[in-house]
Amino acid sequence: MPDLKHHIDTNKLPKHIAIIMDGNGRWAKSRNRPRVFGHANGVKAVRQVTEACAELGVSYLTLYAFSKENWNRPSREVNALMSLLVKTLSKEIKTLSDNDIRLQAIGDICQLPQETHEALKDGIEQTKHHRRMTLILALNYSSRAEILNAQKKIAIDIAEGKLNILDLTESVFSKYLDTADYPDPELMIRTSGEQRISNYLLWQMAYTELYFTDQFWPDFSKENLYEAIIDYQMRERRFGKTSEQITAL
Ligand code: IPE
Ligand code: IPE
Ligand code: MG
Repeated sequence: MPDLKHHIDTNKLPKHIAIIMDGNGRWAKSRNRPRVFGHANGVKAVRQVTEACAELGVSYLTLYAFSKENWNRPSREVNALMSLLVKTLSKEIKTLSDNDIRLQAIGDICQLPQETHEALKDGIEQTKHHRRMTLILALNYSSRAEILNAQKKIAIDIAEGKLNILDLTESVFSKYLDTADYPDPELMIRTSGEQRISNYLLWQMAYTELYFTDQFWPDFSKENLYEAIIDYQMRERRFGKTSEQITAL
């Protein structure tokens, strides 16, 4: 495999990469194995991508691990995913700590099974002082629910006189979201060939560059991440301006 890493311009790195880790089930199916086998193998890709982002100097990595819609899957699969999370968290927290990586979560994590919630809270607590990179797991997350929840909190603050409606700007609104402490992602990667957002970071991705690859998540490697970043770096981000305005800068 070619070493693509040296083609990356480290001065133009995305600060925040968000990923929809998709295709575990189809990866397993193509091997005549149960879907859960695909999820277990997806953990390797999580490790690879986390390590690669930390090595490069990406500051935030958000991984979509479980959506609110995923509760509609067969309970056997949901239970297996929740156990896998507990197992993986307890095994990997030390590696995150050793690498100065802070673990965070977005989504309604209180509604997760108690054991999963506890493992997550432990991981967040144990890594809270780490600064090299922030790894954010989107768990029991859906963007519409997040936005609606923000709106409810805003309504309460207005009713209680803590917020004046005239002061409600986009940046104030952002502070009511689960992602209040993180910048918007510059790059979003989705594996498995699906080209949709699936209720992920809808507000935050207003100007994010989207990158879709046919690979299934368990096959996604460091080199594949480098490919996505190189593709991102070749794009012109115009934010509504003309190309001429951008190149004149
Ligand atoms: C992504 O892989 C993992 C989760 C959604 C938890 P899928 O399980 O969606 O795999 P496919 O899309 O069915 O192949
Ligand atoms: C999105 O994947 C959620 C996660 C990766 C956790 P899905 O596989 O659930 O998405 P849809 O339902 O096919 O769009
Ligand atoms: Mg899927």
